[in-house]
Parts: sequence; C-alpha cells; structure tokens
Amino acid sequence: MLVHKIEEVKNITKNWKDCTIALVPTMGALHEGHLSLIKKAKEVCDKVVVSVFVNPIQFGPSEDYDKYPRTLDKDYELCSKEGVDLVFAPSPAEMYGEEQMLSNNTLTFVCPPFFYVNKLCGKTRVGHFDGVCTVVLKLFNIVQPDYAFFGQKDAQQVVIIKKMVHDLNVPVKIVQCPIIREASGLALSSRNKYLSNDGKKNALALSQILNNIRACYKKGITDIAALKETAYGYLTEKHDLEYLEILDKNTLEEQKKADENSIALIACRVENVRLIDNIYLGE
Ligand code: PAF
Repeated sequence: MLVHKIEEVKNITKNWKDCTIALVPTMGALHEGHLSLIKKAKEVCDKVVVSVFVNPIQFGPSEDYDKYPRTLDKDYELCSKEGVDLVFAPSPAEMYGEEQMLSNNTLTFVCPPFFYVNKLCGKTRVGHFDGVCTVVLKLFNIVQPDYAFFGQKDAQQVVIIKKMVHDLNVPVKIVQCPIIREASGLALSSRNKYLSNDGKKNALALSQILNNIRACYKKGITDIAALKETAYGYLTEKHDLEYLEILDKNTLEEQKKADENSIALIACRVENVRLIDNIYLGE
C-alpha cells in the first residue's frame, strides 16, 4: 500500500499493535542496496514500512536536491515485489508544513554533537546531519518502528543515528546492513546514475583504494599515514579527493594505530559526482 499522509500511516500502524514493525528510511531511487535492507527487515519483523522522501533539509544550497532522482512508481513496484507492507511517500509540505517550507528558521532541528559532525562528510556538508537526524526522528515518531535499517555505506550517518537514539532514549533498535557492490566493486548508490561509463570506471578507484588499505593492514602495516599514502597510486586528475580517513568504526575517533576496530572511509568527486565508500579493516 502507498500512502502520502502522516495520518494514514498512523491509522494503518495502529492495527499492528501485536506485530514487530521495521522501518527502512530511504530517499527513493531504490537499488539492490536498499532491497538488501528491505530483505533483512522482512527477516526480522512482521511488518515492513519503507519511507521514500527526498528530504530537502539535509541538502545544502549548492547540492543536488532538485536533480536527485525521483522514481516513485518504480520504487513502489520494487517494494511490492519484496512484500513491503506500507510505502510512505510524503511531500515536503506534509513533513514540514507549508509555512516551514518557506524558511527553516521556524523548524525545530535535532542537532547531533559537533564531535561527530565536524569530520568526514559533515565537514563539507554543513547542516547535513541536522537534516538527517531531524527527518529520521520524525519518521521514528510517525511509524514507531521496533527496528530501523540503515546501510553501512553511510557509516557516519549510522554512527550519528545510533548516538541520537541512545542520547534521546528513542525506543528503536538500529540495524546496520553491509554495503552492496557491483561485481566491479563499485558501491551501489543512487548517485551512480549521474556517472558516464568512463566515470564508473574511474569511480572504481574508491573501492580499490579501500581494499588495498585493508590488504596492507592485514600484512601488518598499522601506521595510519603509511596506510593512507597507499591511495595515491590510484588517484588521477579525474579524481577530486575530499577525504580519506582511518578512524574507530564505533566512535569515529582518531586512532594512534590502525586496529581491528578501524574503518577506512573515502569521499571523492568523479565527474563532479560526490561518491563515498568505506571498509572495516578488521573484517
Ligand atoms: O540515507 C538516506 O537515504 C537518508 O539520509 C535518510 C536516512 C533516508 C534520511 O533522509
């Protein structure tokens, strides 16, 4: 079933009192990565809700909000095939109110701690995680899920959402699911649609860099600067590296040496498309 109104979601879910409810929050343009979250949600819960909402307040003024792919008919078809019980696809006005759409100055925001946002994607995407946490908490309040499913591809997002849930005592369990990749190694992303064939080939550098860092770590290199330096062999003028970091995977803290808790994370523009990827060194 596809609904667009908050009240409709509440009317449906109030009949699910004896069921466990899963929420898979998405911005649509669903691909195999999203479908893996839905499949996991189906395994764990009786009822699965997928939200499809391109959230305006998590995009900066110069970002791709207007051109972000919107494919609701196809998304709904895919969700139906997977046996999703409810697809919630609100308009921005439904989520934030007509007045608030004119100015964010009147909206209450959830602002995650500076420590977690002042690094990685948050450094260049100022305000992004405020927008993410605000919409995710609203979705949690609307759907009241027992479990919510997020992809490891947005590793910083998952750490921040887990922190929000802990700090604000939100009664939901966060399940993180592994990154899904093309056979080439490219991590699936709705933004891959923007890449040409050449761009897709150049984008392979991200997963190659991460795999190589992990291979070097497995061979015994734990010096973080040395691990990061191995990336330069893969980068050309086609790559605009935004960051490459090796941090603690649970806390996003810097480490003296890489260890079994380390995650390597990269963001790089290819054909001006911002791509992110990450890998756990201990796995
Ligand atoms: O990861 C995403 O697609 C979005 O950030 C989310 C969690 C759906 C919030 O808009």
